[in-house]
Amino acid sequence: MCGIFGYMGKSNAPYIIHQGLKRLEYRGYDSWGISTIEKGNIVTTKDTGHIPESIKLKTNPTTVGIGHTRWATHGGVTITNAHPHYSTDRSFVLAQNGIVENYTELKAYLEKLGYIFDTQVDTEVIVKLVEHELKTTKTLREALIKAFKQLEGRNTVILLDSKSGQILAIRNGSPLILGVKEKDIYLASDPLAFNQYCRDIVEINNGEMIEIKDGKYKLFDIKKDKYINRKPREEKLLEIDIDKEKYEHYMIKEIVEQQHTILKATEYTQKQLQPFIKRLKETENIYTIGAGTAGFSADQIAYYLRKIGKKNAISIKSYETESYLENISPNDTVIAISQSGETADTLEAVEILKERGVYIASIINMPGSTLSRLSNSYFMSNAGSEICVASTKVFTSQISFGYLLSKTLVGEYTDAKRELRTISNNLEDFFSKKTFKQIENISKVLKEKEHFFVLGKGQNFHIAQEGALKIKEISYKHFEGFAAGELKHGVIALIEEGTPVLSIVSNDKNVKDLISATQEVKARGALTIGIGDKQDTDCFDYFIEVAKSNDLKAISNVIPFQLISYYLAKELGNNIDKPRNLAKSVTVK
Ligand code: G6P
Repeated sequence: MCGIFGYMGKSNAPYIIHQGLKRLEYRGYDSWGISTIEKGNIVTTKDTGHIPESIKLKTNPTTVGIGHTRWATHGGVTITNAHPHYSTDRSFVLAQNGIVENYTELKAYLEKLGYIFDTQVDTEVIVKLVEHELKTTKTLREALIKAFKQLEGRNTVILLDSKSGQILAIRNGSPLILGVKEKDIYLASDPLAFNQYCRDIVEINNGEMIEIKDGKYKLFDIKKDKYINRKPREEKLLEIDIDKEKYEHYMIKEIVEQQHTILKATEYTQKQLQPFIKRLKETENIYTIGAGTAGFSADQIAYYLRKIGKKNAISIKSYETESYLENISPNDTVIAISQSGETADTLEAVEILKERGVYIASIINMPGSTLSRLSNSYFMSNAGSEICVASTKVFTSQISFGYLLSKTLVGEYTDAKRELRTISNNLEDFFSKKTFKQIENISKVLKEKEHFFVLGKGQNFHIAQEGALKIKEISYKHFEGFAAGELKHGVIALIEEGTPVLSIVSNDKNVKDLISATQEVKARGALTIGIGDKQDTDCFDYFIEVAKSNDLKAISNVIPFQLISYYLAKELGNNIDKPRNLAKSVTVK
């Protein structure tokens, strides 16, 4: 999380940095700061909250500066804690993306040496460490390298020095990329931040430092202690689609786009899939990994690979891979799922597995991301930019691709494509005024409640979990998704008069179990809502009939949850596209 931006060039740096930070806001929007050099001094503007559309900066037009948008880890959301942070003599400022894991030890060490801390952020430890190293080194770059090598964790830092007029940055883990267009040089956590100006990028790997001075850049390997010559290359970057068109929020626009994006994610021909299908056929076990919504995608894809593809597929949450790592061998295949391709937990697991010689394939939405570079092969979700922090269209793109893969494994590629087209057409009818009104009305009823339970089974178990996650992310209401079978083993104790229970019912062999479970909660006073294929029963107080599908019901069934999430949050007056405390790309552990 956190977004870093740096600029040196011919244009107005404060403006370029502000625009860049706006584009990086999905990484965190607790507070922000911009520092530039004016007449030899560093001038900084900082504030808490979202970055405003237009800002009145303390600085005049100038051609060099850095910026940061924060997602708080250490220390509250205050102007003091906002980055960039000044050195004691105010000659340089530094901003960070990551967590200094040995922060406590380093702070104690520096305090013993007499350094006084003004903030609660771990970044200040880096600043003081650089100052300390500067006492015994000749240059600031040397001091920065020495300090950086003492940091534990995945950290990327950017520094602006008023004495030399240069920008220095070092990457370890948290992403950093350089953009170059003639004399304009951009540095950012994500190329989306500058791709409206330039397409030529230079990748910066872990352990590399970038030095920008006098309109030129130099790349330095801090481990091997030598300069690297890496020329810019043109990258096909994702276009940020900032047009909300007729929609009030990105979330609803992105929900409706799913009728098209599920097809875009599965445009692969059989020939293109062939090498990977061959690998999957030969592989012993398949492990799918991901976190958050991508973690539920990993679950659903593993389900398809077992149920349809007849493979031994195991889904693991990226942050819980530790106990599995030893047992995953080069005879297995890992499929990492990530919208951003930058999630720290996922990258860390992939890095370890790669080192052990395990084949990594990934499903990614961000071209040029770190995960794509680490993977032996990767498949693009092609969902276009997803701006709302809560993921909707990327989730269905990922599971559509997982479904296509599973069907192709058993020679049913054409059948899968037909099913995808069917559901896409049916979604067009589903996204009607009638559906939106019905869900809006149900949301008005749910608004008054606090605790909610979602039940699913088989193909709908993980959809119950993802559905619940989606609603809690935006509405801040307590939703929990369960396997319907779990109900009698504990959850039912929480059911009382009026407790809303949402059951996902599909015309499959589990339907009877779901209806029985619904009857059981209804008998205890629950407010029952059915989501799925139409049922001939009176056990539901409300019923949302979904878009028709054959064996891709996960897609039809998850969409009403996305819509409940949207309308409930709207009713509650929440910030739909940027919910509190969340960030779209979780680049810290
Ligand atoms: C965060 C986001 C989720 C996302 C998860 C994993 O939690 O809010 O929407 O699913 O990170 O991100 P990734 O980029 O790896 O899909």
